[in-house]
Amino acid sequence: MQVHNLGDVPTQLSILKELKEQGRLRYIGVTTTNQRQYAELEQIMRNEPLDFIGIDYAIDNRDVETTILPLARERNIGVLVYAPFGRTRLWNRVSGREVPAWAAEFDATSWAQFFLKFVAAHPAVTAVTPATSRARNMIDNLGAAMGRLPDEAMRRRMIQTVDALPAA
Ligand SMILES: NC(=O)c1ccc[n+]([C@@H]2O[C@H](COP(=O)([O-])OP(=O)(O)OC[C@H]3O[C@@H](n4cnc5c(N)ncnc54)[C@H](OP(=O)(O)O)[C@@H]3O)[C@@H](O)[C@H]2O)c1
Repeated sequence: MQVHNLGDVPTQLSILKELKEQGRLRYIGVTTTNQRQYAELEQIMRNEPLDFIGIDYAIDNRDVETTILPLARERNIGVLVYAPFGRTRLWNRVSGREVPAWAAEFDATSWAQFFLKFVAAHPAVTAVTPATSRARNMIDNLGAAMGRLPDEAMRRRMIQTVDALPAA
């Protein structure tokens, strides 16, 4: 159970903590996908007994790598990744382009798997939650849960490739 977008954290997180104490919730957390709330999120991560956070993270949206993801590791807080495609942003950027052949080195056969494996490979990430309205895309996305993940050197190559694409 999560406090969505850092809503009313003092009230809502208190309720979640109480329900967890009663054994009615297993994991409690807070979420944001708004950079203006990152500082507040960091404060909550330092001061509250969170099991997880939900945060936006994508290969072309990596601000969370600076503080939030290392802090999650340090505090043993799980990380759910939201908007791993930046909604439509990454799709606009790769439109009409083939996924690089070297993506086969980490068992990615589509851009979706390329983007999902990038975030899944970060050591702080617990789970990735791509959204889709199409069964075919869901099957494609599930492919990212199989095979190898990119290592650090490969992740840098992936970033260079995406950085060189036109802006969304
Ligand atoms: N604060 C919060 O708690 C918060 C805020 C934002 C998002 N979230 C959560 O994060 C998750 C994902 O967020 P999101 O929907 O905003 O962004 P997203 O997963 O980054 O992007 C979804 C977009 O990607 C397309 N897509 C998905 N799979 C594809 C594939 N294999 N090939 C081509 N296109 C594909 C979808 O189109 P199709 O439908 O056509 O596949 C849709 O337009 C959701 O579970 C959402 O609830 C939480």
